[in-house]
Amino acid sequence: MNLIFSVFTILLSGYLTQASTSPLVVVGNKFHDLSNGNQFFFKGIAYQAQRSRNAPYDRTTETPYIDNLANATVCMRDLTNLKELGVNIIRVYQIDPTKNHDYCMKVLSEAGVYVIADLAEPNMSIDRNNPFWDVDIFDRYKVVIDSMHKYDNVAGFLVGNEVANSKLTTSSAPFVKAAVRDTKQYIKQKGYRRIPIGYASNDDAEIRNHLANYFVCTDGEEVGTADFYGINIYEWCGYSSYQTSGYRERTAEFQNFPVPIFFSEFGCNTVSPRPFTEIEALLSPPMTKVFSGGIAYEYFNYENNYGVVQETGTGDVVKLTDFEYLKNRYVSIDPEGIHIELSRNQTTNGGGDNHNAYSPIQCFRSTPFWKVSSLTPPTPNYNKCECLQASFSCILSPYTTCNEQELIREICTEIDCGEIEVDGAKGVYGKFSDCSLKQRASHALNLYYNKHNEDPERCDFNGRAILITNSDEKDLESIHALNGLKCLEILGGDSPISNVRHEVAGGNNKVGQVSGINSNRFNQTTKLMLSEGSRLHRMAHLILLAQAANYIHI
Ligand SMILES: *[C@@H]1O[C@H](CO)[C@@H](O)[C@H](O)[C@H]1NC(C)=O
Ligand SMILES: *[C@@H]1O[C@H](CO)[C@@H](O)[C@H](O)[C@H]1NC(C)=O
Ligand SMILES: *[C@@H]1O[C@H](CO)[C@@H](O)[C@H](O)[C@H]1NC(C)=O
Ligand SMILES: *[C@@H]1O[C@H](CO)[C@@H](O)[C@H](O)[C@H]1NC(C)=O
Repeated sequence: MNLIFSVFTILLSGYLTQASTSPLVVVGNKFHDLSNGNQFFFKGIAYQAQRSRNAPYDRTTETPYIDNLANATVCMRDLTNLKELGVNIIRVYQIDPTKNHDYCMKVLSEAGVYVIADLAEPNMSIDRNNPFWDVDIFDRYKVVIDSMHKYDNVAGFLVGNEVANSKLTTSSAPFVKAAVRDTKQYIKQKGYRRIPIGYASNDDAEIRNHLANYFVCTDGEEVGTADFYGINIYEWCGYSSYQTSGYRERTAEFQNFPVPIFFSEFGCNTVSPRPFTEIEALLSPPMTKVFSGGIAYEYFNYENNYGVVQETGTGDVVKLTDFEYLKNRYVSIDPEGIHIELSRNQTTNGGGDNHNAYSPIQCFRSTPFWKVSSLTPPTPNYNKCECLQASFSCILSPYTTCNEQELIREICTEIDCGEIEVDGAKGVYGKFSDCSLKQRASHALNLYYNKHNEDPERCDFNGRAILITNSDEKDLESIHALNGLKCLEILGGDSPISNVRHEVAGGNNKVGQVSGINSNRFNQTTKLMLSEGSRLHRMAHLILLAQAANYIHI
């Protein structure tokens, strides 16, 4: 009895201490655990709760999306299941950067579970049909990185999921590649751990190989290559096979891929229950030579029936049939990889870890299916956009909400909006196209208003636009951006605004306050508010609100 007990205790304690994570690094086309040099294979599951449709929530304090990694009760509940499933990584699609993740990240780490996190959220992402890489999206990405970089078990960040997903949307790809470039640069500039940055693509036969090439190719000086690459792949259904599923072809296609590649989602559900036999193929040779495992889709069950547990509505979860199948596959396989030393030897220059140490790869040429410029959009420039905002007389009204994109379309049928327009197929990026959607809308309003000789009646658009205190060049002369430069200089010496040059001065991309405001147009109260406000586009609203009483009297 005693003996049995102590054996059990030893086993148990071994189980509890064996886990715990240490940072992963990318060397060549493999992930490695830095503490022991072992190759790391994803035995993952997508872990993202959704609000049930029409479920009420407090919009003033809660996000439209759910972040379970900020909810200790829930992540503890699920951790038991995740451990039982044998997963070593979860993919989380939405992080609320204002929340604290210490607790969940710690217990996951102690259980040997890594996290790969998407940086976007539904309202702040690169839209395949109307793509921009702007200050607001970049800002969102930065705050997520700021809030998550400190956890050693963050395996990587994804700058996008299935953005360019067919031949009709390929021109959105440069915006995603710019996001890779700028988030990598941001992590470096902040001195954070070099957390790998990558992208999760879909599996469209017409563009699959062009997309994969695009994220690792370098034309000229471009440094926006991904540190890893994911494909959401649903080719293997039921009891398929390596030969017939398409896995064999994918393995051949990607065998010389320069960065790690894995299935960022898998788990076709046309056959139910899902036997998950693809896991055995994915985590054995020859696939282990090419792929780093994958992320089963998904933990929670919703309408489309991909889940392995169901939430009960009383805060519990119950296991569904697929749970056992997935668990049995994951716990019975232990893929064998190569050691970090061998990976280092196999890279071109003996490998700085996470430094994309591979020989330059040429970008594929455009085809009728693949219309993508090798020119990526510029890094979003906060200072420029804040100064632009400061120059407006006619702006979006803060008193109503409107569909800014519709408003822009409406205005731009009448005036030339090239400065806020983009074309990723041609590599044309208007000089204010990196400003936020609201700033772009205000810019269009302002151009329209100026074109009509500053006629106040032309700044209305059914109440969607509003005039603020007139600005003039003197103001731009006296307003300084965070980097100390005068807005007039940032926007291009010889304002009017429409003459601003593309190369904007001041590489400082920090989000920040506008300092040194001493324009006559602001009195002391307003100036104080400005120096406390964080962004000029909020600032215009503050001015407005402060002056609302006056304005409404007019
Ligand atoms: C955590 O999630 C549960 C279940 O969804 C919910 O009832 C609870 O309010 C959440 N707690 C916090 C702090 O959000
Ligand atoms: C986007 O944000 C708006 C306003 O904040 C909100 O009403 C809407 O539900 C959000 N949509 C999504 C998909 O999150
Ligand atoms: C890596 O290369 C070095 C130098 O050529 C060699 O001594 C070492 O054995 C190699 N290591 C592996 C694991 O191949
Ligand atoms: C400053 O301007 C604000 C907004 O117009 C106004 O409410 C406030 O009374 C002014 N303060 C002074 C000291 O003039």
